[in-house]
Amino acid sequence: MCSVVGYLGSKDASLFLLEGLSRLEYRGYDSAGIACMSDNELKIVKERGYLSALEHCVYRQGCMGNVGIGHTRWATHGKATQNNAHPHTDCNNKVAVVHNGIIENSSQLIGQLKNDDHTFSSQTDTEVIAHLIATLQNKHNDLNDLVVDLVAQLDGAYAFLALLKDYSETMIAVRNQSPLCIGIGDDEIFVASDVLAFAHYTKNVIFLPDQTFALLVKNTVKVFSFDGQAIMIEPQEVMVDHQIAQKDSYQHFMLKELYEQPQAIINTIKSLPAQFEEQNKKQISYDLTQIEQIHFIACGTSRHTCLIVQHFFSFIANIKTTVHLSSEFVHEQLFDTPNTWYIFVSQSGETADTLHALRHVKKETTACTMAIVNVAFSTLAREVDLVLCTKAGPEVAVASTKTFTASIALLYWLANKCAHKKELINNNEFDNVANQLTHASNVLQQSLDNYRDTITFSLASKLIDAPYYIFLGRQQGHTLAKEAALKAQELAYMPALAVAAGELKHGPLALIEDGLPVIIFSSQNAEVYKKIISNVQEVKARGAYVLAIIFTGQDELATLADKSFVIASVTPLLEPIAMVSVMQYLVYCIAQQRGCAIDKPRNLAKSVTVE
Ligand code: AGP
Repeated sequence: MCSVVGYLGSKDASLFLLEGLSRLEYRGYDSAGIACMSDNELKIVKERGYLSALEHCVYRQGCMGNVGIGHTRWATHGKATQNNAHPHTDCNNKVAVVHNGIIENSSQLIGQLKNDDHTFSSQTDTEVIAHLIATLQNKHNDLNDLVVDLVAQLDGAYAFLALLKDYSETMIAVRNQSPLCIGIGDDEIFVASDVLAFAHYTKNVIFLPDQTFALLVKNTVKVFSFDGQAIMIEPQEVMVDHQIAQKDSYQHFMLKELYEQPQAIINTIKSLPAQFEEQNKKQISYDLTQIEQIHFIACGTSRHTCLIVQHFFSFIANIKTTVHLSSEFVHEQLFDTPNTWYIFVSQSGETADTLHALRHVKKETTACTMAIVNVAFSTLAREVDLVLCTKAGPEVAVASTKTFTASIALLYWLANKCAHKKELINNNEFDNVANQLTHASNVLQQSLDNYRDTITFSLASKLIDAPYYIFLGRQQGHTLAKEAALKAQELAYMPALAVAAGELKHGPLALIEDGLPVIIFSSQNAEVYKKIISNVQEVKARGAYVLAIIFTGQDELATLADKSFVIASVTPLLEPIAMVSVMQYLVYCIAQQRGCAIDKPRNLAKSVTVE
């Protein structure tokens, strides 16, 4: 998604802008640009494609100045062209704007401005901000008044930076929902969508609160609410691991991250007792023994985590659970029922839909909110009552792997913690949780090692030309089927269906034809296993090519399937951790052999910061 960066200081701003943008590349983009104030003139350079293309243009055309703003764009309004790349300007090149988010009433504002003879040169919603600022300059002599008037006219979620030729030493930074933070360095100020852009220069950070704006002049940051009242905010010290993740000898980040899963699980479970104690010190009163209901809310793979862990809380801790898709949840009527928790799961902690869902809960209820995130200083982590972090390290590939398994492990521990507090399990049982998770993560590793060669050298090539895939499962296996279908779509651009095996005869069976790949996730539960055998017989009888991920001793299924992957037994609820790596690696290989852009699939971004 789009990222913004800004710099004010005594150095050449373009150097930081390019570097800062490269540190935010993980968010995904299709074009990039910068603007610097140079001798009271706005110099703008922008280009379609990767940052390296922009860098060449900057070196060729020059873009020097001590104040500058930069942007990477992920197209929403208008194609990924040079013209639509940010920064955008008004008719007279007196205002430059970079923006992350969506101006929902842009068409209406553009219509009004066109009536006043403004000419627009892009198809973006952002350009309207530059034209509006230029118009408001005729009305206000004071920048504070100008911004108050401006934000009153804009609808939507946005974070933007603006430079004005008439205020050549000032930068305007505005935040409404989309994240924006300001780093205070020695004699210089940095602004960005994510602290990672400047964390290697300063640890003193102001996270701009929602619905505020800042006027930045050399060494001075003044923050105001949207109605123009000054707000005092002390910078906080943030300790962020700013090392740029390296691929090492792996061909892709995804492959590296897939292999890092056991370590991510172990690091996460080791950190949990201390993290939990830390949360206990918070002023909010909460009692694990009193929780009667948990609503889990997330998007994509994080939602699949929720679908898996909901069973932990109901079976182990006797708590009623419901799982919601963030984007749908925001439209729901909420009831402020006592002893209800809302748990938000997000790798990035910046997913717009999930943040919106959190704000919906905070507005409508008094319930306790908790975040499970991998990025400790993310917006979600800052806005909830309680937070527990997975310790998976930075996840760079767009496809989530290690944060999926690490968050399952974290929530397995938490469900057991609840059960322990409620005296539903004894000390020994609780102490055994870490062993169960460690064993499951070892099985994940072994399965990967056992089947890597077969998948790489013989299996993936058999599947790359299939018209589509069907993934089947029951219970946890059905959720894994959903995760597999999502991975096949995002990584290999393959249509894929996830079907609850029991639903086959209610429709999807009609799709089965000779040679169609059907991938089934088995279960150690004897009842479920029996039914899965029948389902496999049904698809085999109609010619499907069956791959089965099964557990040791499930010989009947092994005989029926065309190819089976045998996984060692684990604690039944932890089957998803044990089974997932074979599926992840299989889809990785299919994507690779289909020539797909594995770490940065087309049209997708790591952090989905717009709704
Ligand atoms: C995962 O492979 C996907 N790229 C995507 O579904 C992701 O899980 C989703 O966008 C949610 O992101 P989050 O965990 O950062 O909130």
